[in-house]
Amino acid sequence: MARSSEIMVKKVACVMVVMCMVVVAPHSEAAITCGTVVSTLAPCISYLKSGGGAVPAGCCNGIRSLNSAAKTTPDRQTACKCIKSAAGGISGINYSLASSLPGKCGVNLPYKISPSIDCSKVQ
Ligand SMILES: *[C@@H]1O[C@H](CO)[C@@H](O)[C@H](O)[C@H]1NC(C)=O
Repeated sequence: MARSSEIMVKKVACVMVVMCMVVVAPHSEAAITCGTVVSTLAPCISYLKSGGGAVPAGCCNGIRSLNSAAKTTPDRQTACKCIKSAAGGISGINYSLASSLPGKCGVNLPYKISPSIDCSKVQ
């Protein structure tokens, strides 16, 4: 009696683990993580805290590679959320510089970098 219920518990646990893997797997395929986004855009931070001037080459390269890495809507929304929360944690960001930054780099980012951006509307 005790033995068979133990086997039952193991079977149920097994099924649950498999179900979890099936449910979780598609989400873990998102190509973009916040760590990637933040390190990619790190060269932009000193520029965004300054009064303007020339955009550092490393910053444009970062925006370009971020834009080509985030091709799908979920990836773009993830990147958007990461940018928003990272920028919100840095004081002294000049958002008028930030929103014009992709244009200055010749990149057509599908959203503007701003503190009030609605990432759920990013396509
Ligand atoms: C942001 O940058 C723009 C363009 O260089 C500048 O005119 C503006 O004064 C800056 N704003 C702040 C708050 O530093």
